[in-house]
Parts: sequence; structure tokens; C-alpha cells
Amino acid sequence: MANSQKLVVNGGRRLEGELRVHGAKNSALPLLAASVLAHGECVFHNCPALTDVDAACRILSCLGCRCSRSGDTVCVEAANVCGSEIPDGLMREMRSSIVFLGAVLGRTGRCRLTFPGGCELGARPIDLHLAALREMGAVISEEHGWLECTAPGGLKGARIALSFPSVGATENVMLAAACANGTTEIQNAAREPEIIDLAEFLNKCGAKISGAGGSVIAIEGVKRLEPAEHSVIPDRIVTGTYLCCAAATRGELILTRCEPAHIVGFLPVLEAMGCRVYPYGAGKLYISCTRRLTAPPTIRTMPYPGFPTDIQAIFMALCTICDGTSVFVENIFDNRYRHVPELIRLGASIKVEGRVAVVQGVPRLSGAKVCAGELRGGAALVTAALAAEGTSEISGTGFIDRGYESIETALRSVGADISRR
Ligand code: EPZ
Repeated sequence: MANSQKLVVNGGRRLEGELRVHGAKNSALPLLAASVLAHGECVFHNCPALTDVDAACRILSCLGCRCSRSGDTVCVEAANVCGSEIPDGLMREMRSSIVFLGAVLGRTGRCRLTFPGGCELGARPIDLHLAALREMGAVISEEHGWLECTAPGGLKGARIALSFPSVGATENVMLAAACANGTTEIQNAAREPEIIDLAEFLNKCGAKISGAGGSVIAIEGVKRLEPAEHSVIPDRIVTGTYLCCAAATRGELILTRCEPAHIVGFLPVLEAMGCRVYPYGAGKLYISCTRRLTAPPTIRTMPYPGFPTDIQAIFMALCTICDGTSVFVENIFDNRYRHVPELIRLGASIKVEGRVAVVQGVPRLSGAKVCAGELRGGAALVTAALAAEGTSEISGTGFIDRGYESIETALRSVGADISRR
């Protein structure tokens, strides 16, 4: 993933203007996996141009599907799915490839893939995924790092109680249950908007899914799914990132093609900090910050609709230059403070103790050479560099490109002095 490219930012410029929010990476990936279940060609609009989406398309090609892109529309022809193995290289490139397991199992009755393994956010266990699929009749053996999954006699409906509302496990069960024999019920399901988006797409294909968005989802298995056309929901984390970039530079932005209802977990926090931010007509958000912001006292990451873990790093970058002290508690991932040492290089004052990070606002940040270690931490460094005085160089752009379409082009279009070298 690492490449030699870097972003060069001359900070201190106010962001002003209008920015379009692209489609959600964390919806596009499960939707592309779901297309494996449809006997024909699916069409996805508002599909973001991201390296993770490219990786998902390469996995689809390995399975015998044909992918094509024109603009932000991606077509997947899955009439003849002939493969059931996901190559190790692609599994390593993107751990969320695990979401293909349920779909491939549902379509072909077997699947072979390597363990997604640990990543930049700490261990990425898949015990909830495997336990749920075994409940549905899958036989899964784990040897030499490979998962050999089969469904002798097909998958059958089951009652799945998730000990944690895992997004990926919820998606895998929905995909495996769509064409299983009988009805599956997921208790303590994830409630993220991406889950609702996946259910809506699958129902367009002929599935019978109800309750998505709530904690109990029922999936009545059907014989066969037909292809459908679907528009990917806007990316709520990219929306939050752009809002934080505006706030960090005391700028003024209008975001278009976004969904204000999906950011109820952190919009009020921005308001409490002193930003003026509110919905601005259909699919639009307005934000302006004219003064130094007040630090939010405590930020606890929670499953949706709570404060999203994916925006924690970016929010922390903003809090480094607020008045006062903030306490962050990262409840979702074990190791999601990799951005802290890099923010300290930019002049931030942060102390980490386990899941807790204490951020003391400083008068200003100053440019430095920093390195992104994962996707959202990278976006946090961009946010901080935009506010820092002087020049910053951010390496590890490969991580950032996984979740942001040409972040420098977007930010430059609203006044940032940022370029890729
Ligand atoms: C999805 O990851 C997102 N990725 C993540 O976004 C996001 O941070 C996460 O949900 C939480 O919202 C995609 O949708 C592709 P989880 P996922 O299963 O499904 C533990 C980004 O930056 N767990 O809800 O992997 C797990 O270790 C990415 O866009 C188990 O213990 O998240 C974690 O601590 C990063 N066993 C917690 O649950 C399992 O079997 C949440 O994981 C599965 C998960």
C-alpha cells in the first residue's frame, strides 16, 4: 500500500466555497459484494473512485464477474460466477474483503480466502462472522491462514445474536441469508446507514429483508436474486472530514450531495464547539466558523447512531487547536491512536493512556513532515496541516486514497494550498 507520493500543504488558508461529497466507501464495498448474488448485470451509481473500490472490482473479476466503470457508475455482470477463491494478495490489500465471504458462499456454496489478519487498527478478528455463518450451516476450517468454507446442503436460516453490533458481521449474515433456506433473524444488528443501503439494494434484487437500521433484522430466504440498479448513499465520514477541515481553517463551506441525517452522531458536537452548521436544502450542509473553537469536554466513540469511530482521528486534529481540554475514549477499536505521535510533531499536546486520549488545545500548530499510518489518521493529518502555520509534508498517501477521492483536488477547489508530489 505504501507509495512514495506525499501531500505538501501550506497551512493557514481559510476554506471557502462548495464541495461535493462522493459516495460512501463503506456502502459501495458490501454492495459490490452483494452483486455476486444477482444473476445478471447490476448497476451502481455514485460509486466512489477509491483504491478500495478498485480492489473490490479485482476480487469480483477473480470470481468470474465482469466490472466496468464509466464516471461514477460501476456495472457488475455476475451472470456466470465461476470462482470461489479470493486471492491472498487482495485479502491483504483490503481486510473488508471478508464481506465477500457471505455472498460467495450464498452464490456458489463454497469460499476459500485467507484470514484478513491484523491491520493498522489493531487485530481485526472475524469470530462473529464465522460463528454466525456456522449457525447457518456453513462448515469452515481454518488451516495455514486459509479459511475453507463450504455449505453442504446449502445455508439455512438461523437466529443470530451478535455479542457486538459488528457492521461487517451484520452484512455477511444478510448476504448469506438472502438466498438461504428459511428465515434468519439477526439480534443486536449494526444500525449504520450502510446496512440500510445494503438491505434496500438486496430487496430491489428480490430479497425479503426487514428491520434494517434497527437492532433486529429479519431475512426471509428466497430462491434467486435478479440484478438491480442502485445509487450509493453519500459518505458520512467524508462529510465529517470536510466539515472539520472548514472548522480547522475558520472557513465557510457548502457541502452538496450529502445526507445530514447520517451525521447526527457528531453534528451537535461541532455546534457545541462554536461552529454554525446546519442543513441547507436537499442534500446540502452549510458550515461556517469565525472564531477559535471551544473544546468538546468528552468524545466517546460508539456504534451508530453514536459518535463514529471513523471520525475520531479527524475530530482530534480539530480539537488540538480548540480552547480547553478534550477527553477521547475510543471504544470500538483497540489501536486507533496511531495519528497521535504525528499530530504531536505538528505541535499538538496529547496524552494517550489505553483507550483514553487527553487533548490540550494549543494556540497554533506548525508545519512538519508527518506520515499517515492508516486511512482516517491520514485524513486527520491533512486536517491539522491545513490549520498549521507553514509547510507540512504528509507521506503515506496510499492510505488516504483508500477512502478519499483525490483529497488534494477537492480541498484545492475551496482554497487550500495543497499539492501531491
Ligand atoms: C466497518 O468495519 C467499517 N469498514 C470501518 O471503517 C468502521 O470503523 C467499522 O465498521 C465500525 O463502524 C467497512 O465498512 C468496510 P466492526 P468492520 O465489525 O465491519 C470487533 C474506515 O476507516 N469485531 O463493526 O470491520 C472489531 O475488532 C473503516 O472506513 C470482533 O471482535 O467493523 C472492532 O473492534 C475502518 N469480531 C469492533 O468489533 C468480529 O467478528 C467493530 O468492528 C468482528 C468485529
